[in-house]
Amino acid sequence: MPLILGIETSCDETAAAVVEDGRLVRSSIVWSQHETHAPFGGVVPELAARAHVERIDTVVTDALVAADTTVRELDAVAVTHGPGLAGALLVGVAAAKGVAVGAGIPLVAVNHLEAHVHANAVDDDAFAPPAIALLVSGGHTMLLDVTVAADGTWEFDLVGQSVDDAAGEAYDKVARFLGLGYPGGPEIDALAATGDPEAVVLPRAMRNQGYDFSFSGLKTAVVQAVRRSDAAGTPLPPRDVAAGFQAAAVDVLVDKTVKAARERGRETVVIAGGVAANSRLRAQLASECEAAGLAWTMPSVPLCQDNAVMVAACADRPAEIGRFASLDVGVEPSLAIAKAKRI
Ligand code: KG4
Ligand code: ZN
Repeated sequence: MPLILGIETSCDETAAAVVEDGRLVRSSIVWSQHETHAPFGGVVPELAARAHVERIDTVVTDALVAADTTVRELDAVAVTHGPGLAGALLVGVAAAKGVAVGAGIPLVAVNHLEAHVHANAVDDDAFAPPAIALLVSGGHTMLLDVTVAADGTWEFDLVGQSVDDAAGEAYDKVARFLGLGYPGGPEIDALAATGDPEAVVLPRAMRNQGYDFSFSGLKTAVVQAVRRSDAAGTPLPPRDVAAGFQAAAVDVLVDKTVKAARERGRETVVIAGGVAANSRLRAQLASECEAAGLAWTMPSVPLCQDNAVMVAACADRPAEIGRFASLDVGVEPSLAIAKAKRI
């Protein structure tokens, strides 16, 4: 019955949360640095690390106070140690080690990608693998076959992934091209809701080719469509470009997810990562799962974006079975998803 403090600093959110038994959220504090990075149109690693340093103590204290607990009552402290920005990860890992030593409690090192998938079990306490997971974030686009290992931890087999840009990266790049704010995903999502998804038809890359994805060609197609119509003196409305881009991206993501579940005999589909907050992806996944007779789960929007609840949830089973990290555990900026063997 572990009570776990989770800490997350892999990118541009400084977050801490207290979670009981992997599902009961006692507190969740997320300090977003979006305003720091917005003027640069993307995350500046050095600024991210510095902003984490400035915020981490307050965020951790706030999480403990909001949970009405102290470090003495905790069973473990869990921290994201990769993948992510090295300097940013270091801040969270150092803070977690400080708590572990100070309170005399064990440390659990968490993989950020696995944590995203675990967010599905927080909101839906009926959910447990096996399932096909679509993980779509700023740095990753992956289809994973998730199962439960003999020791109760989750295992992830890699079914497919992007061969170039991640889905979130494509959203951010297209948003920048359209002159929208950072991060671009929510901006495109909102603008697309006012546009016609069929007015600008864009390619569905690799739609019928296995389980891998490609998004860099889609971004180029957006640029070419806009330039062509500008040159012809008939500029495309940005809302239609956003809607057309989003429809093309979501069609491929949903198609391949449903196909993977069917072909691998899984009855449940989950989504995870920042792009899983996308309104069209959520709606289309639900309707296509319904049509295919599949069950689906998706985290609430705040749990799709980077947060520390998912980190504590991911550490629950490892803490129960005593799979702790040594106090000299380092950051792993390129950490792969555990056991992600290609199948
Ligand atoms: O998981 P996340 O918070 O951070 C990483 O681990 O990368 O994902 C951030 C990504 C960004 O690319 C952001 O633009 C995208 O998620 N995103 C969205 C939406 N909200 C965030 N993309 C599409 N639609 C959204 N509503
Ligand atoms: Zn993330």
